[in-house]
Amino acid sequence: MNNLLKGKKGIIFGALNDKSIAWKVAEKAYEQGAEFVLTNVPVSLRFGNLHELAEKTGSQIIAADATSVKDLENLFDKTLEIFGGKIDFVLHSIGMSLNVRKGRTYDNLNYEYYQKTIDISALSFHKMLQVAKKKDAINEWGSVVALSYIAAQRTLYGYNDMADAKSILESIARSFGYIYGREKKIRINTISQSPTMTTAGSGVKGIGALIDFTERMSPLGNATADECADYTITLFSDLTRKVTMQNLYHDGGFSSMGMSLRAMHQYNKSFDEPEDIEQPENLD
Ligand SMILES: NC(=O)c1ccc[n+]([C@@H]2O[C@H](COP(=O)([O-])OP(=O)(O)OC[C@H]3O[C@@H](n4cnc5c(N)ncnc54)[C@H](O)[C@@H]3O)[C@@H](O)[C@H]2O)c1
Repeated sequence: MNNLLKGKKGIIFGALNDKSIAWKVAEKAYEQGAEFVLTNVPVSLRFGNLHELAEKTGSQIIAADATSVKDLENLFDKTLEIFGGKIDFVLHSIGMSLNVRKGRTYDNLNYEYYQKTIDISALSFHKMLQVAKKKDAINEWGSVVALSYIAAQRTLYGYNDMADAKSILESIARSFGYIYGREKKIRINTISQSPTMTTAGSGVKGIGALIDFTERMSPLGNATADECADYTITLFSDLTRKVTMQNLYHDGGFSSMGMSLRAMHQYNKSFDEPEDIEQPENLD
């Protein structure tokens, strides 16, 4: 208990169940002394168990579809009312692709689904920032964080149209970060997280193999949802006041790797003629 967020108030989008990254962020923000409103789309409120988290953290839940400016306006109005003033942090932890869900490959996209992917997973970030700014809802030196994935920069099999959404998401953090920083001293960053077994994560094609691959490739191993929450708390805290417009890799070093000994070892196992391959020793 360091009370890193003592006195701070915020909005946390995207906690569905106790696997969700946003759920872990809410637990840690509470531990660090923050107060916040929890929000999710109505269907997720019905199927998830957000009320448990709300009870545990003494939070109120306000339903909002993050693609609806009207819902977002209502959410910010009610939040400011609850706290009797402005907030200090916002977490955008939202992602969904119907193309992924329905097994459409990237060279056979359904364009209505594609637009939904972009709207839910990227434009919603712009919408919440624009609503927040117009309502002047965030205090100076406030912090906004969205969760991203390295498929924004590199092509990873199966990530599909979500890769495009993450590229836009990260670009919004820079473009809005400039304006919000210049005018209101508010910082905006994205955290590029390791693959993680959540509800959204488990929808990604081949997620099990991907998690194993990135684990072997990363010198520090994959970052867990709990560790992601810890990192997010530092970005909401006053210890990172001059960090803005960044895409921050939280991936155990994966993004800087090309090939690791452990991944090479696994890759070599797949060849028919292992005698041709020099096997390094001590591969744990
Ligand atoms: N799990 C991973 O491997 C991984 C890796 C990197 C980044 N991320 C990102 O982390 C974020 C959180 O995902 P998660 O892994 O915790 O999974 P999750 O399924 O627990 O969370 C996704 C959330 O998005 C919400 N959502 C969907 N449509 C919405 C809408 N229209 N309005 C408001 N909310 C909506 C869902 O209800 C859910 O709570 C996402 O942006 C995801 O892309 C996940």
